[in-house]
Amino acid sequence: MEKRIELTNAIGQVLQQVTNAPAQDIHIEGKPLRGGIEASGVTLVTVRYRSHSHRQQMFRLVAKQLTGRPAREAAVYQGLVAAHARNLAPGLLAVEESGPGNVLLLIEAVRRTTSWPWRSLKAGEELLVRLAELHADAAGAAALVPEWDYEEDLQAVAEQTREALENCRSDPDLAILVRDLPALDRVVRALPALRRQLLSERPFGSRPIHGDLHPGNVLMGRRHGQDKPILLDWGRARVASPLEDVSSWLQAVGYWEPEGRRRHDTLLASYLSAMGMDRRLTPSVRAVYWMAAASNALSGALLHHLRIARNGCQSSRQRAAAARAAQDALRVVRRADAWWR
Ligand SMILES: Nc1ncnc2c1ncn2[C@@H]1O[C@H](COP(=O)(O)OP(=O)(O)OP(=O)(O)O)[C@@H](O)[C@H]1O
Ligand SMILES: [Mg+2]
Repeated sequence: MEKRIELTNAIGQVLQQVTNAPAQDIHIEGKPLRGGIEASGVTLVTVRYRSHSHRQQMFRLVAKQLTGRPAREAAVYQGLVAAHARNLAPGLLAVEESGPGNVLLLIEAVRRTTSWPWRSLKAGEELLVRLAELHADAAGAAALVPEWDYEEDLQAVAEQTREALENCRSDPDLAILVRDLPALDRVVRALPALRRQLLSERPFGSRPIHGDLHPGNVLMGRRHGQDKPILLDWGRARVASPLEDVSSWLQAVGYWEPEGRRRHDTLLASYLSAMGMDRRLTPSVRAVYWMAAASNALSGALLHHLRIARNGCQSSRQRAAAARAAQDALRVVRRADAWWR
């Protein structure tokens, strides 16, 4: 539902950039956008006004109200995105600090051209080629990424995940998940060493990455008259292994799209070749890939699914879907465990 919004300084600034002259009869409405878990509020804002030539005009933007750690997304737009990902992200319109750790981020509203492009191999390859360009181009730009002790946060969430899986012992329906407890336990205990190896593994090393790549954070939009993937939600950008982005994307697409799962190796090979590397999926590439994928699973996704799977307030359908997603994530953990042992 649309809600009337007051003209804030930041929206006024954008209006001035757009009109280049005083506007009249300004009317602003906002509609909450789906998702918005990380951000405190994501709103599609429509600004209607009468231009100096009395013509009725309008434009749209997306407003993200960010509090606490997610507020770093504004600095990511101003640093990393401005220097290395302008064509890969919505345009930055304005940033307004409304208090310590409180930011309003205004960005271009991207118009989606296709709702689910990921059945097509071409669209998947296009995304991975653009991602490789970002990883290659930003390789030396760690200073443009705002600080975040990701390793500390990851270790804490990984330990909560192990505890959540231990708690599943009391639920006979989840026995299939509990079988993977020994593998999960080994990977969590090995995590600091595993991360050190992952981040130093050549030729990937560590460099700026998007950090939260899944189909909910990528839209197909128009750029220079062509359909191009646009990456949203830069709040988890960090300096890490580029294979964390690649495995995050391939695992998520494989979960939702059978064609993505079937083409997994072809897509991974496309990324390697776009990075100027050998397309062959050697044992060492596979090992780094599964280490990166397990890190992602332990950074919150598996914990989220386990909590839903055990939550009596959720419908049995939702609980079953969460248990299936947890099983998928645990398969990744088993793979990393097998490589690490
Ligand atoms: N610039 C944009 N143009 C069009 N739609 C957008 C834009 N930014 C966000 N959205 C929509 O709003 C949703 C939530 O935005 P976003 O992912 O940035 O928020 P978040 O709270 O950080 O994410 P999450 O829900 O993943 O935690 C997106 O999945 C997308 O559908
Ligand atoms: Mg998102």
